[in-house]
Amino acid sequence: MQNFSYWNPSRIIFGKGTMSEVGKETAKWGKKVLFHFGGGSIKKNGVFDAVTASLKDAGLQIVYLGGVVPNPHLSLVREGIELCKKEHVDFVLAVGGGSVIDSAKAIAFGAKLPASQDVWNDYYMKADYTIAEALPLGVVLTIPAAGSESSTGSVITDAEHGLKRAVNSETLISKFAVMDPQTNYSLPAYQTACGASDILAHLQERYFTTVEHNDLSDRLLEACMRNVITNAPLALQYPDEYRYRAELMWTGTIAHNNLLDRGRVGDWATHDIEHELSALYDIAHGAGLAILFPAWMRYVHKVDIDRFVQYATRVWNVDLPLSDKEGIIEEAILRLQAFYKRIGMPTTLADAGIPGDKLRFMAENAFVGERTHLGNFQKLYVGDVEKIYRLAL
Ligand code: NZQ
Ligand code: ZN
Repeated sequence: MQNFSYWNPSRIIFGKGTMSEVGKETAKWGKKVLFHFGGGSIKKNGVFDAVTASLKDAGLQIVYLGGVVPNPHLSLVREGIELCKKEHVDFVLAVGGGSVIDSAKAIAFGAKLPASQDVWNDYYMKADYTIAEALPLGVVLTIPAAGSESSTGSVITDAEHGLKRAVNSETLISKFAVMDPQTNYSLPAYQTACGASDILAHLQERYFTTVEHNDLSDRLLEACMRNVITNAPLALQYPDEYRYRAELMWTGTIAHNNLLDRGRVGDWATHDIEHELSALYDIAHGAGLAILFPAWMRYVHKVDIDRFVQYATRVWNVDLPLSDKEGIIEEAILRLQAFYKRIGMPTTLADAGIPGDKLRFMAENAFVGERTHLGNFQKLYVGDVEKIYRLAL
């Protein structure tokens, strides 16, 4: 286990009826709120009205900015930054999923940048940066998936140039996240499944490490993976059943609040490889991960066969003779693919209607900027990334 420091100050306010607490929590940090949201699901399921009422009850002023799309666009971020400056907003509230939260994070730190700096060119496109300050941020989460409600990350798409890039900073961790699993009842089945796939991916990215003797994290990650594998099909079968929604929602937060990768180094190549897919084809992030994770596993598993055998036996209950480790690993990957299929995820590029004619282009695009390699379990270069796309055809 490596040395580590862990700090995550995001207050999680979880459960039925918790949306009424948004106003009180927000009033601890600001007076004039940018209420940032997506394409309108919150107007249909009552979340918009409930949050507005709570903010007004707390005597807060509200500036609305909707229209965030999945794979959120840089253009709206720029609009939000200008709006915050013009309206003297002092708090940003994201009401929605990962896309809304990530857009809100970009606005929150973009609004504090000096005129000489640009949110995209000086941060998202750089390998080395420090985000010094940001407007305080709160979250009302409506979909368990990205984990952005208490993560350090924000992922934004420059649609004009077909680039999707992330920043990470403790400065971007939310002050609070209100999470009522009842808000998830209105999720389309496909979005529920994409969310489950993303949560599982965050656990797998952390699981596949070359750092040894980090057993507690292994065990916690395995428990979380099994919890997703059990509860995602149940949430799809019984969409209004609170307990399954609650299990997924809490696991989604734990999977990505950095608790589970202390003392180890996660991989993250599959995420970076997926971001090219969603940048070019606007596919949902969770669906892209379902296509690519099995391909990545087949490509890199030889780096540490025993780690993959542990994953196969503890997570997927593969019970084959230890003399056939390759067979054990392939069986686990097949079970992972069967899980994706069961919840309605595509498992090949063809399933998602993505042609194979831009694999080299996407692989090269992944290195635009200052990246030297992708991943840590095995360092990947352009040729490797192209081969992984090819394995996913
Ligand atoms: O826009 P609206 O109308 O709200 O509809 C959304 C959207 O169409 C809908 N939705 C959300 N909650 C709903 C609902 N529909 C009905 N009822 C509800 N309660 O779901 C659709 C998808 O929303 P989105 O926010 O895009 O989903 P998700 O949370 O999966 O976020 C995906 C984004 O997060 C990034 C991804 O790359 C992607 O851009 N990620 C962010 C991370 C981070 N910041 O730490 C880490 C992740 O690995 C990920 O990369
Ligand atoms: Zn993800």
